[in-house]
Amino acid sequence: MAPVLLAFCRAGFEAECAQEAAARAAAVGIRGHIRAKPESALVTFHPDAPGEASGWVEGQAPSDWVFARQLLASAGLLKDLPPGDRAGPIAELAAALERPFRQLVLESPDTNEGRGLSSLLRPLRTPLLRALADAGVSVGIAAATDDLHVCFVGTGACHVATGRSGLVAPWPMGIPRVRARGRPPSRSAHKLAEAFLVFLGGSPHVEPGSLAVDLGAAPGGWASQLVAAGMHVIAVDNGPLAPSLLETGQVTHRREDGFRYRPAGPVEWMVCDMVESPSRVARLAAEWVRDGACRQTIFNLKLPMKRRWDEVQRARQIVAEVLEGRRHALKVKQLYHDREEVTAWLALQ
Ligand SMILES: C[S@@+](CC[C@H](N)C(=O)[O-])C[C@H]1O[C@@H](n2cnc3c(N)ncnc32)[C@H](O)[C@@H]1O
Repeated sequence: MAPVLLAFCRAGFEAECAQEAAARAAAVGIRGHIRAKPESALVTFHPDAPGEASGWVEGQAPSDWVFARQLLASAGLLKDLPPGDRAGPIAELAAALERPFRQLVLESPDTNEGRGLSSLLRPLRTPLLRALADAGVSVGIAAATDDLHVCFVGTGACHVATGRSGLVAPWPMGIPRVRARGRPPSRSAHKLAEAFLVFLGGSPHVEPGSLAVDLGAAPGGWASQLVAAGMHVIAVDNGPLAPSLLETGQVTHRREDGFRYRPAGPVEWMVCDMVESPSRVARLAAEWVRDGACRQTIFNLKLPMKRRWDEVQRARQIVAEVLEGRRHALKVKQLYHDREEVTAWLALQ
């Protein structure tokens, strides 16, 4: 059964996710068409030659993508499911996939309508597991290569899809549940906590007392997460920092321009959340890494209203130019806590 690529994204970013799907498919010579209804938080890519493209569809990892939170291989969109037996047709289609599954994931897009479907999804799990067992589909097999995703897009419509273990985002709808550590003075702290989880697998492991620089630090949400990881933070911002942060004794406040400030010696981490042009911030971050001013960096790029995909590509290009010939790792992701922005992680390799 030749699959369609199913991507979950932030509502309002379907066009960017579609551009990314088109660009990635074109880069490997795969042609197809895209469906991306505005505000649906869902994009589908339909290859023209589905059989030939199935390996590519099943091999996509959301961790490599910017605008897709989750990527699945949809075996089909079932419509007009009978309200009295939604499970039956789903189990039938899942059985046609002829493979065991690690787990069953029931989900819906991250929209008001999608969230409203959760009251339908919860009571469906038990009858669906029963219907799957009756149809001969094994679920709960630890060694299976795929998860079975049933993605409801309406009360009577769902995609029956698979997600490859090791590639698929491990969170329902691709949304990690993160908690900022301590008592952060701003909600932005969740963004850095999520970035650490998504890019590093959790809070960074550093020697106690390692140095970090936070550019555009006020009021101190990001700095609070660096402090919680055991670092001493040089917080650069003309604005005021939360007193609770200064009271930790781990924070030095420098009222300076973040584009000019450089520490006296190399630091472990530089993070940057300045509201400035993405190209400028990307260049700054790459220069810090190139010059050995920091070992690694996480920086946020505030995207303009239009040409947001192009802006991300431009930022990538700038990093590549600045680090010309130096092996580096760059990941760019629109995190769940990102709004009109994306977050990037950069380090030399
Ligand atoms: C989005 S806020 C940062 C929030 C912070 N990350 C937190 O978690 O609380 C952006 C900050 O960047 C600062 N900023 C903007 N341009 C700057 C510059 N050139 N130098 C230093 N700080 C700058 C602003 O003063 C503002 O406090």
